[in-house]
Amino acid sequence: MNPDILTRARDLHRRAVIAIGDRPVGTMAARDPDADPLNYDHCFTRDFAVSAMAFLLAGDFAIVKNFLLETVALQITEKRMECFEPGQGLMPASFRLEPGAGSLSADFGGQAIARVAPVDAGFWWLFILRAYVKASGDIELAQGGQFQHAIHLILDLCLPPRFEMFPTLLVPDGCFMIDRRMGVYGHPLDIQALFFIALRVCEELLSEGEANRSYLWAIKSRISHLALHVREHYWLDLPRLNEIYRYRVDEFGAGVSNKFNLYPAAIPDWLTEWLPGEDGGYFAGNLGPGRMDFRFFSQGNLLSVLSSLADRDKAEKVMIMIERRWDDLVAYMPIKICFPALEGEDWRIMTGCDQKNTPWSYHNGGSWPFLSWLLVAAAMTCGREDMADRVISLLEARLDRDDWPEYYDGKNGRLLGRKARMLQTWTIAGYLVAVSLRDNPSGLAAITFDDQTYDLACPL
Ligand code: GLC
Repeated sequence: MNPDILTRARDLHRRAVIAIGDRPVGTMAARDPDADPLNYDHCFTRDFAVSAMAFLLAGDFAIVKNFLLETVALQITEKRMECFEPGQGLMPASFRLEPGAGSLSADFGGQAIARVAPVDAGFWWLFILRAYVKASGDIELAQGGQFQHAIHLILDLCLPPRFEMFPTLLVPDGCFMIDRRMGVYGHPLDIQALFFIALRVCEELLSEGEANRSYLWAIKSRISHLALHVREHYWLDLPRLNEIYRYRVDEFGAGVSNKFNLYPAAIPDWLTEWLPGEDGGYFAGNLGPGRMDFRFFSQGNLLSVLSSLADRDKAEKVMIMIERRWDDLVAYMPIKICFPALEGEDWRIMTGCDQKNTPWSYHNGGSWPFLSWLLVAAAMTCGREDMADRVISLLEARLDRDDWPEYYDGKNGRLLGRKARMLQTWTIAGYLVAVSLRDNPSGLAAITFDDQTYDLACPL
């Protein structure tokens, strides 16, 4: 760890703070003086999750508590029948400080580029709340009436049965960190891992008593089904790929093996060589009728390790996978958001010719240093301090020199992202969390969940 870089990062992180008067309430997404701010002067819920972890690990609880109090007040609490209004229970994608007014205004996706819905916001909010409670010991905040009600509203939004047969959540394209069209509609892994985390948080933070009995029952049942479903059906390693390769198709009724009617011909050419031998594996990016997205999505896989959505054995295999394919997934900058990039006709059709998401750039195979907080945390959870050290030295070799960019481009992450902003806050916070966890592993307790056994029979 380089003390000069660390001091600079701490200072830059502090400068990104948004305050109402002298009350810090969040951090702005980026402070690049040379770029049009668009909405990068907002505090994004998902970006603040990384900042929150950095503040909590440094013992700075006040800003996180203030953020939670401000956002709980912004949550949509009334039932709305108008389809253009954000629905009850939604947490804001982002908020900004109204210049001069001293108040906050929130965006629920209605202003965002392509009007994407922030399905992940409520889940990140719960993750932040639980980390705050764990780090500060302030359980009273979570158990107060306003916060218990907020938790109910989030659950009411995602627990009721809808138009599907699975325990996973069905969502539109671009509704999480990848907030542009990238073929991530349906049942993307990132959302399922966050949903799993959200349910585990609710299970921990809902107070005991009659009022919560039915919620707790519904949570327990959904967690089991979700975990079993993802562990069984999303998992990919060589033996599993071989099963898919030999699948029979168009089977009807109960007890069939090819439940999603996957056609073996859809297995992409790159995959059979890319999967290591028997000792590595990962969760596929998406699964639905006739469709498995075989791309490796880093955030979803790393969150699965932290949350124990991946059991111990699978978690270790995910880390082995990253190690065996280090040159593809990490190379010069940890870590690619997904691998491989969509190219040619796939890129045209799946992104709608998105010029920001060209192959090996931005969300389409770009490298995002902020994800290092998850990579280091996952590595440490699996006893892989050696990997954590490699990650931190890659970050220190470039981030400060390059002015803390948002992302990098290219197959090996060597190029500064074509449209990357500088002084990107979650890049700075991601580095701070990585260093802090490596220094003091006890911090992991606030962001990890123990491995549980789920024994409900999965109805699928
Ligand atoms: C981009 C990212 C999004 C992030 C935002 C602010 O839109 O895709 O995930 O929250 O920038 O950093």
